[in-house]
Amino acid sequence: MEKNSEIDWENLGFNYIKTDYRYISVWKDGKWDDGKLVTDNMLTISEASTALHYGQQVFEGLKAYRRKDGKIQLFRPDENAKRMNNSNSRLLMPEVPVEKFIDACMQVVKANEHFVPPYGTGATLYLRPFIIGVGDNIGVKPASEYIFSVFCIPVGPYFKGGMKPVNFMIADYDRAAPKGTGAAKVGGNYAASLHPHEIAVKKGFADCIYLDPSTHSKIEEVGAANFFGITSKNEFITPVSESILPSITKYSLMHIAKEYLGMNVFERDVYVNKLDEFIEAGACGTAAVVTPIGGIEFNGILHIFYSEKKVGPITKKLYDTLCGIQFGDIKAPKGWIFEVK
Ligand code: PLP
Ligand code: COI
Repeated sequence: MEKNSEIDWENLGFNYIKTDYRYISVWKDGKWDDGKLVTDNMLTISEASTALHYGQQVFEGLKAYRRKDGKIQLFRPDENAKRMNNSNSRLLMPEVPVEKFIDACMQVVKANEHFVPPYGTGATLYLRPFIIGVGDNIGVKPASEYIFSVFCIPVGPYFKGGMKPVNFMIADYDRAAPKGTGAAKVGGNYAASLHPHEIAVKKGFADCIYLDPSTHSKIEEVGAANFFGITSKNEFITPVSESILPSITKYSLMHIAKEYLGMNVFERDVYVNKLDEFIEAGACGTAAVVTPIGGIEFNGILHIFYSEKKVGPITKKLYDTLCGIQFGDIKAPKGWIFEVK
């Protein structure tokens, strides 16, 4: 077990650390049990579990933030609960009531409170809720039993260097099919991304960008994050498609851009051969927060947005406002913050 006194909060990356408690609840005979906290981080499941064979598995990601006054808060966990239920329904898995999901997250944060990084380090406690189909079942059909669990790890920046521009390349592969599971947070999408991700990293990029799987002409996802671009006309633009994961960070940034920064916000197609319409670009997500995109390589040419070294001023304002809200320094829109009591 990791001792939190030994954690170097300032230099955390995005790596697994075993924390003290995780929440487990079991769905059997058509209902969830009450759920409980356990210390064991090992799961014992049937070798015939659908999660192992047929990818009946969904997950979520959200964070707990330590405020200046020492209190802890979650950012929009109700949205993660709703998205998890959308993913569940796509894979014929049972819904988790929103209150149960939030209660599980709260219990895990409280029980692991000493792993919530101190205010000012920039680090946070990442929560990983997931559901897997388990039980004895070899036919291609939904499982009869499920496990819902939430564990947590203290994390720093997802992309090395944190709030510094990084470069991406356009992937030669798709992460999801046109009417597939791209909008659901299911393990299969990430399995499909491992190979293109490795190619990108070997070529010196942070990750790859996926184009729309029908025409391969429009930007969809930036690795495990959504894309946004800023135009010289004070516009915040982000792609729209049924195979993009609806990012809670992206929808929060759209609100921030409009209501806090006075920008015009549009969800519309973003063509990969029209990147010069943007003066800044970024990737956004729970893990990625707001990561400036230095450049994108497409057809052998690296298109630079603002700079490969410096963060653009609008991207910086979006980042500062989002983090200000998440860490409790800036007043949040109603309903975005859930204090852990
Ligand atoms: N896109 C993908 C594929 C992701 O895995 C994530 C991470 O959850 C996101 C986008 C960003 O979503 P969110 O802002 O809700 O974390
Ligand atoms: C997240 O931002 O929560 C993600 O899911 C990204 C990831 C590490 C898969």
